[in-house]
Amino acid sequence: MLKVRVLGSGAGGGFPQWNCNCDNCSGLRTGDLDARARTQSSIAVSPNGRDWLLVNASPDIRQQVLAFPALQPGRAKRDTGIRGVLLIDSQIDHTTGLLMLREHNAPLELYCSRMVYQDLTTGFPVLRMLDHYCGVNWHEIPVDGEPFEVAGIEGLRFSALALTSKAPPYSPHREDPHPGDNIGLAVRDEQTGRGLFYAPGLAGIEPHLEPVMTKSDLLLVDGTCWTDDEMELRGVGTRRSLAMGHLPQSGPDGMIEALRPFAHQRKVLIHINNTNPILVEDSAQRRQLVAAGIEVSYDGMEIDV
Ligand code: MLT
Ligand code: MN
Ligand code: ZN
Repeated sequence: MLKVRVLGSGAGGGFPQWNCNCDNCSGLRTGDLDARARTQSSIAVSPNGRDWLLVNASPDIRQQVLAFPALQPGRAKRDTGIRGVLLIDSQIDHTTGLLMLREHNAPLELYCSRMVYQDLTTGFPVLRMLDHYCGVNWHEIPVDGEPFEVAGIEGLRFSALALTSKAPPYSPHREDPHPGDNIGLAVRDEQTGRGLFYAPGLAGIEPHLEPVMTKSDLLLVDGTCWTDDEMELRGVGTRRSLAMGHLPQSGPDGMIEALRPFAHQRKVLIHINNTNPILVEDSAQRRQLVAAGIEVSYDGMEIDV
């Protein structure tokens, strides 16, 4: 059975963010808000609870592994339940954790697009750096929906769909988008036929995603911001949600409405920015989500698909 563990449900910076005193971050620190801390964006998937594929490697990976004993089965002096790492983009919050895995006793089995590989060997050369430690064994993944497999993750089929978005600021092709800069990932259990669609960065539900999402049982999608101008409203910046490639939840064109056609799917938001009011358990915005049948993921959430 396809098992999903949410390792980190927060967006870049986590919750609370180290330098942030927005109402959410300060309210969490003082204990005045009914909210939980969250580490940065990553999930793990497994066909059996023993062999895990890390999907994104967050800067908080050390803490995430410590919190999830299945990733340390203890069969040898040096051991891990992580059989490979798949990256959906080359953003800092999804890739920096690779450096924390450098003590591995074999090259890391790394699955990512050609574009992500390029960024991680140039603008943010973590893969070049890892060559001086465990090294990586890169598997290029197709980004046109063609299914592929991951060695050691028996019984799960994967497919990646290119998303319209942008590469990170340090990418050599930041201003020149290519398919594969960002992907949505579909995972299907071959035995049960049930599947997950995971896309923590989704500027909108593009037409080519609809069939895949319709065939999925669990949609784990972008929960970054509630409104496009949330950072500004909170007084912590001017960056807009949509400009960052994140569809806000509220409003007639927002994620809540976009998810409405997916009536039979379990819908869970992930990659939640620390400014987002849905982090507050008793907020009006959270109640609006609940009414729409949408859940908010948290660190340690486990779902059997
Ligand atoms: C994003 O999701 O847009 C990025 O991770 C933002 C960031 O952390 O700088
Ligand atoms: Mn992010
Ligand atoms: Zn904050």
